[in-house]
Amino acid sequence: MSLTATVAVLSAVATAHPASAQQRRGVEAERAELRGAVVSDPSASGGQAVKVRLGRRAAVLRAPLHPAPSVRVRLRGCGGTIRVSAGSGPFRAVRVGRSWQTVTVTTAAGGAASPVRFARPSSRSGRSCPRVSIDRIDVQAAPVVLGAATRDDLLTTAPGYEQAVASTFGGVTPENELKMAFTQPSPGVFDFARADRLVDFARGRRMPVRGHTLVYDQQLPQWVTQPLVPWTRERLLEVLRTHITTLVARYRGRVDTWDVVNEVLTPDGKLKPSIWQRVIGDDYIDLAFRFARAADPNAHLVINDVGVERPGLHQDGLARLVRDLRARGVPVDGVGFQAHIDQAGVPTASELDETLSRFARLGVTTEITEADVPLSPPVTAAALMRQQTIYGTLATACWEHASCTAFTVWGADDGHSWRGAQTRATLLDAQYRAKSSTALVMQHLSGRIP
Ligand code: XIL
Repeated sequence: MSLTATVAVLSAVATAHPASAQQRRGVEAERAELRGAVVSDPSASGGQAVKVRLGRRAAVLRAPLHPAPSVRVRLRGCGGTIRVSAGSGPFRAVRVGRSWQTVTVTTAAGGAASPVRFARPSSRSGRSCPRVSIDRIDVQAAPVVLGAATRDDLLTTAPGYEQAVASTFGGVTPENELKMAFTQPSPGVFDFARADRLVDFARGRRMPVRGHTLVYDQQLPQWVTQPLVPWTRERLLEVLRTHITTLVARYRGRVDTWDVVNEVLTPDGKLKPSIWQRVIGDDYIDLAFRFARAADPNAHLVINDVGVERPGLHQDGLARLVRDLRARGVPVDGVGFQAHIDQAGVPTASELDETLSRFARLGVTTEITEADVPLSPPVTAAALMRQQTIYGTLATACWEHASCTAFTVWGADDGHSWRGAQTRATLLDAQYRAKSSTALVMQHLSGRIP
């Protein structure tokens, strides 16, 4: 599944160490394969991020979570220690020898996506080493995982469904099975039968699982929404703690990412007055993330929201919230953009670019978590073309941003989409046949831009 990209540092080769015609041709061939790969020269820029363009536009060397990428760097120059670090520090430091060494840099599993930074190495004598250049970088860049919201009931009852999910998608989000109404139908009584089946299905195929969702104001059990005795902050907080701790601990090591909180804002960017917010107070979000981190320190923790792909009040509110949470040390690792296209209009490529950049600057990963593009029935060929363009724009934006770690479609196929089969909102038709947009999305997500 992984794409091996061999990239040379062109500026370093051209200036410090002139390359032979043969080497240049090699570089050209690799560039053609990568469609214009260009890398900045870290020695010239004094330890800037090494930028590798794998797509049509800028893409910082990707460090996606699944699987962790490996980067092999061959250096030329004086010996010394090269420090390799990333925003959240998941890279091992490596030592390089005197010249023409190959070093391997491997990310620690579970690290956040972030650019790899190569500090300027210093010589053994401790003096800074002015002339070192990277000769070659081999990037093992994994495609962005294309996942689907998947339903346990259909795995066994709908002929062809299991096969379609397994052969088309690389990741699973249980569509409903982990929501509180399903997992804790009565106080303190948990039911994981459906979620377990889905998680086993995914893990058996080495598909990462997104846990959706720990705290939501929808699909709550009645005992939460209509308590016999009105809630107090203390009692509902205890419910929150027990619920999160039980789910996250149960699936430790099996659910890679959790949507810790889902849809916590109103369209004008204020905190939504959900039962959690009204009874516990605004800090229920801080606490939810802290409970989740405590139950599985390796899980990737996400705040997921709807209608925030385009700039506006809702997105401003989300950015403010994420910034404030992180400033308080709340363990928010990522932001999920649901991308139910129609709920806030169709985002343009530049709006998506702006959006993903904005959140990457806050130090979090981004991902498309619930993409679907419903069309008004009866669906015409022209509408399907428009749909394909929209999917393509979303997938390209995700690929081009190093922060964007995954792309999930909300529903494997049109026949079982929550939008209704007639809107043809997903990537497979009701007979599980791939649409032309499916191939396009996959190409975009692996950097193979058609
Ligand atoms: C939807 C499911 O797809 C439906 O099957 C269910 O009846 C209602 O919920 N945003 C979310 C998802 O975060 O959990 C919702 O899923 C769709 C909107």
